[in-house]
Amino acid sequence: MTDFDLIISQGTIATASDIFKADVGIKDGRITAIAEGLDGAVRIIDADGKFVLPGGVEAHCHIEQESGMGIMAADDYKSGSISAVFGGNTTIIPFAAQHRGQSLREVIELYHDRAAPKAVIDYAFHLIISDANEQVLGQELPALIKAGYTSFKVFLTYPLLKLEDRDVLNILAIARENGALTMVHAENDDIIRWLSDRLMANGNVAPKYHAMSHARIAESEASNRAIQLARLLDTPLLIVHVSSEEAAKVIRRAQDDGLKVFAETCPQYLFLTADDIDKDGMEGAKFCCSPPPRNAADQEAMWRGLSNGTFQVFHSDHAPYRFDETGKLNAGPNAPFKKLANGVPGIELRMPLLFSEGVGKGRISLNEFVALTSTNAAKIYGLHPRKGTIAVGSDADIAVWNPDREITVTHDILHDNVGYTPYEGMLLKGWPEKVISRGRVAVEDGKLGVEPGSGNFLERSPGYDFIRPKGDLPLEIDPEHNFGAKILLDDRFS
Ligand code: URP
Ligand code: ZN
Ligand code: ZN
Repeated sequence: MTDFDLIISQGTIATASDIFKADVGIKDGRITAIAEGLDGAVRIIDADGKFVLPGGVEAHCHIEQESGMGIMAADDYKSGSISAVFGGNTTIIPFAAQHRGQSLREVIELYHDRAAPKAVIDYAFHLIISDANEQVLGQELPALIKAGYTSFKVFLTYPLLKLEDRDVLNILAIARENGALTMVHAENDDIIRWLSDRLMANGNVAPKYHAMSHARIAESEASNRAIQLARLLDTPLLIVHVSSEEAAKVIRRAQDDGLKVFAETCPQYLFLTADDIDKDGMEGAKFCCSPPPRNAADQEAMWRGLSNGTFQVFHSDHAPYRFDETGKLNAGPNAPFKKLANGVPGIELRMPLLFSEGVGKGRISLNEFVALTSTNAAKIYGLHPRKGTIAVGSDADIAVWNPDREITVTHDILHDNVGYTPYEGMLLKGWPEKVISRGRVAVEDGKLGVEPGSGNFLERSPGYDFIRPKGDLPLEIDPEHNFGAKILLDDRFS
């Protein structure tokens, strides 16, 4: 009889708070011991000279999902989860997207059917709510929050997804009452539409005009508006895929005022700029996403936000579309920018990019890397401490990183179904060589060791109480001024 199924020995363990050398003992999929000199296992992995980190929690990815334009993502739950695990992730939280007219129950069933037979690692779903009707607000959403779907995204832009401010208020009120977290795609739809209509009318249809139409002001205005709506109801909000210095400042100011505003940025806003969208011919379409990559000053602001606590999470927003008629060029080989599928791939490179250019170049610490790519998402989205850390009792979800391994990025080495990577040719240092998912060796020597369908669905609890944005004291609810929260709290108004 051995004490452990697996021991990861002699590695340097890093969590969001500590770095120390020890062995990790794993039994029945969970971590059962962390100590020096562990012994007695079916298998021992020697991690001397390596970092032993919590597996990534990739909480912003679009897998086997129809976009707002109705285009199916190139990755299903098999290729999407395989690509994720090769990139050091052990949990994914993609979206279960409601399209108008669908019931949320029906949407959830559909996504379970898509994920269950194919996922190789554990998964949960955020909802996307595009039809905030009475049935959704009155019955389905509260019931689904109770059933463990504790976060949802709303859009302030895209014709088929966009909600009015009052719909967002209704959703925030339900989030508040039921302890869920609202995520927001914050861009002003009218600004984007107004600019694109004029650009298109003047024959400016090339991909680069996508970046021009998604002006920074559209992002900062909508971010501020979403923050004020959440402030009215004194309820947390998470702004996804922040791209610009201006929006980051809006968020930072709100956090300094004590508001519960969380924020995310993504690799495309650190490593790409609007110049990439201005590449020859249609090539720029590969880099079109919303909000678009900006410029070098915005990139610096994103790095600053990662190290000063403005951003709690760093996710890929993996929105995989092939550069052909099934994806990016769905509306034709020379489609105008308005008709290009929006989104870039990045699920497999999210962690290696941040490790190499963030930790490796001294922009963030190793602990911050762990917090940004794993622990904070697990806390915010209600999976901690089961996921997102290395601790006795947690799931044995671990990535063993070789900090010295150098890799030149080419799409050939990746496992997604996209056919290109925006990061082609980059030289990265540091790579997740072995990935353990619930104690199973999922990736080793470049090979997959787990079966499609072996990932588990994760029911989540309300998570936002675990962390607060860095900033001043939490804002006190002022009954005289915060009428929104008062109305919710006061029986006389119900
Ligand atoms: O362009 C993007 N980001 N596409 C994916 C959908 C979204 O808004 O996150
Ligand atoms: Zn979005
Ligand atoms: Zn997205």
